[in-house]
Amino acid sequence: MSAVFRLVDRRPHLTGADLLTRLVPPRRFASARFATYLPDPAHPSQAAALAEMERFTAAIGEAPKPKRWRKQAAAAAPARYLDGGYGVGKTHLLAAAWHEARSPKSYLTFAELAGIIGFLGMESAIQAFSAHRLLCVDEFELDDIAQTLMTVTFLRAVIAAGVKVVATSNSLPDRLGEGRFAADDFTREIAAIASHFDVVRIDGPDYRAKARVEADPFSADEIEAMVQTLTAGGASASDDEFAELVAHLRVVPPVQVAAALEGLDAVVIRDLAPLDNQGAALLFVHLIDEVYDSGLTFVASGCAVADLFPAAYRRGGYRKKYGRCESRLAALLGEARIATRS
Ligand SMILES: Nc1ncnc2c1ncn2[C@@H]1O[C@H](COP(=O)(O)OP(=O)(O)OP(=O)(O)O)[C@@H](O)[C@H]1O
Ligand SMILES: [Mg+2]
Repeated sequence: MSAVFRLVDRRPHLTGADLLTRLVPPRRFASARFATYLPDPAHPSQAAALAEMERFTAAIGEAPKPKRWRKQAAAAAPARYLDGGYGVGKTHLLAAAWHEARSPKSYLTFAELAGIIGFLGMESAIQAFSAHRLLCVDEFELDDIAQTLMTVTFLRAVIAAGVKVVATSNSLPDRLGEGRFAADDFTREIAAIASHFDVVRIDGPDYRAKARVEADPFSADEIEAMVQTLTAGGASASDDEFAELVAHLRVVPPVQVAAALEGLDAVVIRDLAPLDNQGAALLFVHLIDEVYDSGLTFVASGCAVADLFPAAYRRGGYRKKYGRCESRLAALLGEARIATRS
């Protein structure tokens, strides 16, 4: 059934227990497999990353090595950290590892993990994941001191319980938190987090640039036509005005945003405009992350993607988040343009 909704009317309240039942790769990565990751021969780190992740995933859940091998096995880090620029396929490899590993396993973003620990409390969260073979955490990052301390405790406990972990990030583990809080005062904690991981570096251009033929926002008339076409075709779309939506995001906890998008095929945002509040900008970035991961059609009118975030934000501690968001917005708008032509 087709319908038009407003995101500003949606305020989901999933409980911690609800959230635990949904920890699988999002729609965009539902079919990501090692076999569908095509390493770029110009960037040998891609083939090396693929081979390493296949090896790591295959070894998960294998019987413990005989005693004489144990010392050597103990030296291998229990976790992998996929590091690289935007759109190089980190999340693709993360989702592939999840799909190909044996259960019990979970896939979630770092923001969701932080939300779940907040909901359940540390003890219960550790318990919920301790019997897992694999925990996949997308977009690992440290925004503040509380998150840093929480991450130290959580990782230490689940890794001691034998859980293997794979994470992706745009920042190297020993540089987490840089420019966001007094990370220099927490080098010991950050080093403790980094010590669990072997870094798997992936170089290369933004794969999404291939889909980004034209990333300009749509005109008001084009948006009108898109909404008509979408709903006539039986799609469920949300249709919101940017300023109102940004204000609404303040009352929707980030961990509930994916649920707010549930049941939708398309998201329409009218009148994008330059943001002048860092808090609002980060909430909008999170919304776009969820829209992108969910594989929804996205159309927007208003200012150009390059004008959304002030230059000062792109020099600060969150610059990579904004860069990533621009890459995703451009890819989403490009995909929608291609779709309207076909
Ligand atoms: N080598 C590859 N072969 C096939 N598909 C790829 C490859 N690299 C990336 N992709 C595809 O390109 C898109 C972007 O990749 P992905 O989202 O995994 O990048 P990322 O490194 O996680 O980027 P970000 O830093 O923005 O999170 C995905 O749809 C992914 O499946
Ligand atoms: Mg990613």
